[in-house]
Amino acid sequence: MLRRPRRNRQSENIRRLTQETTISNDDLIFPMFLTEGNNKAIEIASMPGIYRFSSDLLLKEIEDCSKKGINTFCLFPQIEESLKDKHASESHREGNIYLSTIKKIKKEFPHITIMTDLAMDPYSSDGHDGFVENGNILNDETLIILGKMALAQARAGADIIGPSDMMDGRVGYVRELLDNEGFINVSIMSYTAKYASAFYGPFRDALESAPKSGDKKTYQMNPANSREALIEAELDYMEGADFLMVKPALSYLDIIKLLHDNYDLPIAAYNVSGEYAMIKAAAQNGWLDGEKTMIEILLSMKRAGAKVILTYFAKEFAELKGY
Ligand code: PBG
Repeated sequence: MLRRPRRNRQSENIRRLTQETTISNDDLIFPMFLTEGNNKAIEIASMPGIYRFSSDLLLKEIEDCSKKGINTFCLFPQIEESLKDKHASESHREGNIYLSTIKKIKKEFPHITIMTDLAMDPYSSDGHDGFVENGNILNDETLIILGKMALAQARAGADIIGPSDMMDGRVGYVRELLDNEGFINVSIMSYTAKYASAFYGPFRDALESAPKSGDKKTYQMNPANSREALIEAELDYMEGADFLMVKPALSYLDIIKLLHDNYDLPIAAYNVSGEYAMIKAAAQNGWLDGEKTMIEILLSMKRAGAKVILTYFAKEFAELKGY
């Protein structure tokens, strides 16, 4: 036999020499949940090891993660029911818990990069990402609210705006508003191909943000479609997005690859709450090795073409002593 592929697998050193993909802390964004109050760290039942933090403890957690090598965070707020309304007006009220926490983080830790979530659902009494009228999600009316929210986030010091709402035209709309206010260096990481997925369940528990009626299928994509992702990617590219994101990640590795092969922008993958919960649940039952599974799925996202991974495993990965 002239060709013996096993020769390249024969020792740890040779396997490392021939390893095509690696994961680094630099690739990871840690999504975090913020709640009101002081000294609060409430573990999310369906996401073991992940907490809703009050802003004081969130700052401590960020400091701890940063010492371990994680320096980029994406924040999601849990908003009291009494502050929610149809227009998500709390989302751009100056001094709200989200904006004031971003300000504090940027002041105390200027080297930390903060990505925001741009969508109405945490603040909406309808629990939808867009403005609801007679059961319909109105696209262009939503853009106006998203625009106000994006500007408020940029003024608070956000580095990357993350539109997760899937309204048409929002990247271009927000880009223009940001530029007009001088925020030319605030990036946009567009949730380009965000699918209507059951894997978001634990996240909606964490924020109590599930839709009060209906589902998100008129704006999030049909899991059966891949070519449609190219339409979304083309629009986001033309509208000025800096990163293209695919979400969820694991069941959509083909979409990550598709966007990677067709666009030269950095591709991000969102390893979502349900993907985290599945592994944690199985590991807690002793049904699989949680650490090895974590590494394998993160590698699969990198191999498919993601440069950036948003993952609830970020801190755990950073705590590994090699892999
Ligand atoms: C909503 C939003 C969702 C997630 C991030 N932003 C859920 C949804 O669309 O209902 C999900 C993240 C996760 O599951 O980890 N704007």
